[in-house]
Amino acid sequence: MDRRIVIVGFMGCGKTTVARALATRLECGMLDLDAIISAQQNMSVPDLIKERGEPAFRDIETDTLQIVLDRVTPRIIALGGGAWTLERNRTLINKHECLTVFLDAPFDLCWQRITNHPVPRPLAIDQPGAEKLYRERMPLYALANLRLKVTDQLSADQVAARIVETIQRKT
Ligand code: S3P
Repeated sequence: MDRRIVIVGFMGCGKTTVARALATRLECGMLDLDAIISAQQNMSVPDLIKERGEPAFRDIETDTLQIVLDRVTPRIIALGGGAWTLERNRTLINKHECLTVFLDAPFDLCWQRITNHPVPRPLAIDQPGAEKLYRERMPLYALANLRLKVTDQLSADQVAARIVETIQRKT
C-alpha cells in the first residue's frame, strides 16, 4: 500500500504530530499544508486569516492543496482543520486516490489543546463557538476513509501505530 495518506480532523486533534509519527513509522516523508501555506505567503495562517479574511485563506488553501497533490510530494499530508470540510477539497483529495484518516478526538481534548497551544486559532476563539463548529463538522470528517478514536491516554506514536494496523487490516 503506497497510497498517500491525508490526516483530517478538528483543530487540536493532533494531525501534525500524528502525521510526523506516522512518517517515522512508515519511513516516509510528511508535510503540513498550513506550514506550506505560511512559508509561501510569508505569514502565519492566523495572521493570514486575520488580515485577508477566511474566504481568501480558503482559496489559498485549495490552490496549495491542488499544487501539493499534483506534485510528487511526501506520502503523509496533514491538513488544517477546515480543509476537508470543503467539498471542493474532498473532491480533489479523492480524485488523487489518497487514503483519508479522521482523527476523532473528543471536543474537550481538542479545546484543551487549542487553549494550551501558543499559536492562536482565529476560528476557535471561544468555547461555545468552537464546540458549535466541532459539531457541525463531525459529519464531514466522518466522510474520511478511516476513523480513529483519539484520547489523551494515547501518544502520537500509539495513534500512528493504530493507523498502520488499521490500514493493514482494511486495505
Ligand atoms: C482551521 C484550522 C487550522 C488552520 C486555520 C483554520 C480550521 O489548522 O488551518 O486556523 O478551520 O479548522 P489546525 O487544524 O492545524 O489548527
